Amino acid sequence: MNSSTDDPSHAGQAFKASMRAQWDTAASGWSAHTPDIHAWLHEPTVAMCRMAGVRAGARVLDVAAGSGDQTLEIAREVGALGYVLATDLSPAFVALARDNAARAGFAQVETRIADGEDLALPEASFDAAVCRLGLMFFPDPLRGLREMHRALRPGGGACTMVFSRPEKNPCLTILMSTALKHAGLPARDPFLAGGLLSLGQPDCIDALFRTAGFEDVATTAIGAVFRLPSVDHYLAFVRDSASPILQILGKLDAAAAEAAWSEMRERLMPYTTHDGWAGPNELLLTAGRRAKETT
Ligand SMILES: C[S@@+](CC[C@H](N)C(=O)[O-])C[C@H]1O[C@@H](n2cnc3c(N)ncnc32)[C@H](O)[C@@H]1O
Repeated sequence: MNSSTDDPSHAGQAFKASMRAQWDTAASGWSAHTPDIHAWLHEPTVAMCRMAGVRAGARVLDVAAGSGDQTLEIAREVGALGYVLATDLSPAFVALARDNAARAGFAQVETRIADGEDLALPEASFDAAVCRLGLMFFPDPLRGLREMHRALRPGGGACTMVFSRPEKNPCLTILMSTALKHAGLPARDPFLAGGLLSLGQPDCIDALFRTAGFEDVATTAIGAVFRLPSVDHYLAFVRDSASPILQILGKLDAAAAEAAWSEMRERLMPYTTHDGWAGPNELLLTAGRRAKETT
């Protein structure tokens, strides 16, 4: 018999509880940086919504919605006759998404605390589903995709956005490797489930979509340069909201953590340009469709 620590479901629950706690802590910081995040991700978000089939009057599921920046874009697109359900594992994020939607006057938005791997939604109840920068944090992303597939009506579309390969996201690689080094931890396999870059390997996410039952699966890589006035603005964003980095540095005392932030600053400085700071990123937009019912 397995001991509780060998039990994979126990390990999964512990991972989820830790993920929820980390994102609860980072939620207000992420939300406070919404204008920067919005500018960084606006174009890819418009593409994601188009690829999922978000349109006027549609019912849209937004998984791992965070504080709801993309939820508001979707709400605008579906209009008053449409509907958006924004779900997230973190209660703090869901509260922010709910307040942000109310402040924007979008009665067509509902929010719900839900693990993306266990949405417990009625079968075939949405026209489209999206997940922006969330799926890579799921320990079992296939389960998350199966849940999205199940929630879609036949013919409905899904699109997810994740980071691509480490070398295309050099600032994330710098942050992670520096944090691990200062924490005295070994380098991590970037493709390990649940990590920032875990779905960045070519064809990995397409295969997951197909296994989950999606048809017409295609991935588009899209560049998304994070432009900010200076490297210090980027570090402020990371310090306020980048849960995976904060979790590693959280184990260090204040002086050791400051040494890590200082080395990160030095290594990120070369991305300074004549008119600010520009950190390259590459995102993968993967779209698929639930098969139409055959008569
Ligand atoms: C980088 S934030 C992205 C938030 C939002 N989609 C955005 O782009 O602004 C990652 C989000 O994934 C959520 N998340 C992580 N694991 C999750 C899970 N298993 N189920 C649902 N949400 C999850 C976190 O709580 C957090 O809100």
